[in-house]
Parts: sequence; structure tokens; C-alpha cells
Amino acid sequence: MKNIAIITGASSGIGRSFLRLIAKERGVYNSLPFDEIWAVARRADRLLEVTSSIGDDRIIPVTADLTSPDDMDEIALRLQDEDIRIGLLINCAGMGFKGLAEDISVNDIEAELQLNCVALGKLSRICLPYMIDKQPCFSLSEGPRMINIASSAGFLPQPGFAGYAASKAYVISFSRALGVELAPYNIAVTTVCPGPVKTEFQSKATHGASSEFTGFRKLVAVDPDKLAEAAIKASRKGRRMLVYGFSQKALHVASKVLPTSVILAIESKLMPKADASQRNDKITGITPLPISSEEESV
Ligand SMILES: NC(=O)c1ccc[n+]([C@@H]2O[C@H](COP(=O)([O-])OP(=O)(O)OC[C@H]3O[C@@H](n4cnc5c(N)ncnc54)[C@H](OP(=O)(O)O)[C@@H]3O)[C@@H](O)[C@H]2O)c1
Repeated sequence: MKNIAIITGASSGIGRSFLRLIAKERGVYNSLPFDEIWAVARRADRLLEVTSSIGDDRIIPVTADLTSPDDMDEIALRLQDEDIRIGLLINCAGMGFKGLAEDISVNDIEAELQLNCVALGKLSRICLPYMIDKQPCFSLSEGPRMINIASSAGFLPQPGFAGYAASKAYVISFSRALGVELAPYNIAVTTVCPGPVKTEFQSKATHGASSEFTGFRKLVAVDPDKLAEAAIKASRKGRRMLVYGFSQKALHVASKVLPTSVILAIESKLMPKADASQRNDKITGITPLPISSEEESV
């Protein structure tokens, strides 16, 4: 039986850091803990570049769009066809679009929710039968592991990043509950909540308008390798939650003690003030949806 690790979002950023570190990871008596490491992402060229730079034959690039039901089925079938045990699942693939909801396209809203919520939930469920061991090991730190990458954005509603923050609140809630459900099988589920991380995320979140964080976020932005290292350590210890960095820990505490209405009032003060007349012009230009019912009425 093959013992495998699956890492989604492995073609860049935090997922790539995980891939590098997991390829180096050693098990008991310094053995290699995984026979194969499946590196999942859409961009085949980037996956190939990353895997060949690591140079470990155990890495299997899996080109898949996790929002596509067909690609997800293909992963499920591939698992079924082989004699496999999943020792580690890292759900890292994720995306977010910054801006007011009225400025974000319907497709982008759908893609964000499909990837961050639906795909993460589906893949976790698909992998579970291969993680639950018939002969459970002795402790959480020795059993199979799942690491789910959420975000500190999930602690609070975030005007200007509303859909993303809500999707990460799902990841936090889902993963923490799953951790409790799977504890009797000694499967450790670690929910990771970083703040800003220096990856391609910011550029994608702004459709290329800015590739770097600004202001306070720039000050507290962290290195993806360091974050991945801390997440692996936390997971090995069987920790349920890792809030990474002092600033994010402070935000976490604030989200617990302050009423949401107070936090929203502070956030609305911090939001850049849009020119009211420009916003009115823009709103009158927004196409009502759904398009299909509009066509019917013509
Ligand atoms: N960077 C931050 O500031 C930050 C902060 C908190 C949390 N996070 C979270 O950390 C995780 C990793 O993000 P990152 O910062 O490393 O960003 P990134 O560099 O943009 O990496 C995102 C990864 O997700 C993959 N991906 C995107 N859409 C996909 C799809 N439909 N199917 C399969 N794979 C897909 C991308 O690969 P392909 O494009 O090749 O598919 C890429 O490998 C995300 O869940 C993100 O929400 C990031």
C-alpha cells in the first residue's frame, strides 16, 4: 500500500513552499514518510517547473482545476484505482478578489466560492476514506494529518474583501469541526490562519493592479516558507489551529472580545471614501442579473 501526501495549490506561493518542505520531511528512523507526493494545480507548466526544481521522483504533478467536477471526479477515480493510504492532505489552493461586491464580476465571485469552499469540502470528503485507518495509531501526532489553509480574514466580516473573508470563515468553521469529528481516528486537522503572505495572491486578487501589499499589510507580510514550516510543525504536534504572526494573533483576540458591530464601524472608517457621484454613475451602469431573464423580457 502506498502512503501518499496530497498538496493543492502546489504550483506557487504557500503550496509550493509546502511541497518543498514535505519532500524533505523525514518520518520515524529518518525514513521518507511518503511514497508519493501529489502536487495539484491547474498550470501544468508551473507544476513541472516547481517539481523539477525540487528534483524528487516521488512528486507526481496532478494538473486539475479543483472547481471542475470532472477534474475532481478524476482525482477520486485515481485514488480508487490505486492501493493508497493518504498520510497528509494539505488544502492550500485558494483565491480572493479585492474590491466592492458591485465591482467584482459574477464569475469571479463564483470561482472564489467554488475553490475556497466547495472544492476544499469536496476534496476533504473524497480523501477521508483513505485517511481513516482501520488500525488507528497511538497519538494525533503520529496519525494522518490534514492542513487547511484559511486566513485571518475569516475572523471578521471584511468590507472590500467580503466574499473572500466569508469563504475563509467557512474554512475555519468546517476545519475546526472536522478536527473534532476525526480526533477519534487520530487524524489531526490543523487550521492555518495567516495574515498577508508574500505570494502571487495579491496580484491575482487585484487582477494585476498591485503585486505588493501596501501600508500596514506590507509591514506584517510574511515569508511563505516560514509560514509553511510553522504549519507543518503545528500539524506534527496535532495542533488544531495556527494563527501565524503577532499581528494576526492580536486580530484574533480582538475578533473574540469586540462586538462585530464595533469592528464593522472601525472598518468602515478605514475604508477609502469613494466619490459619491462617481459611485452613482457606476451603479446606474451595472447590468441587472440574471441576464437570461432579462433576455426573456425583451
Ligand atoms: N498570500 C496571502 O496573503 C494569503 C493570506 C492568507 C491566506 N492565504 C491563503 O493561502 C492559500 C495559498 O495562497 P497563496 O498566497 O500561496 O497564493 P498563490 O501564490 O496565488 O497560490 C494559489 C494556488 O492555488 C492554485 N489554484 C488556484 N485556482 C485553482 C483551481 N481552480 N484549481 C486548482 N488549483 C488552483 C494556484 O495554482 P494554478 O493557478 O496553477 O491553478 C496556486 O498554486 C490560499 O488558500 C489563500 O487564500 C493567502
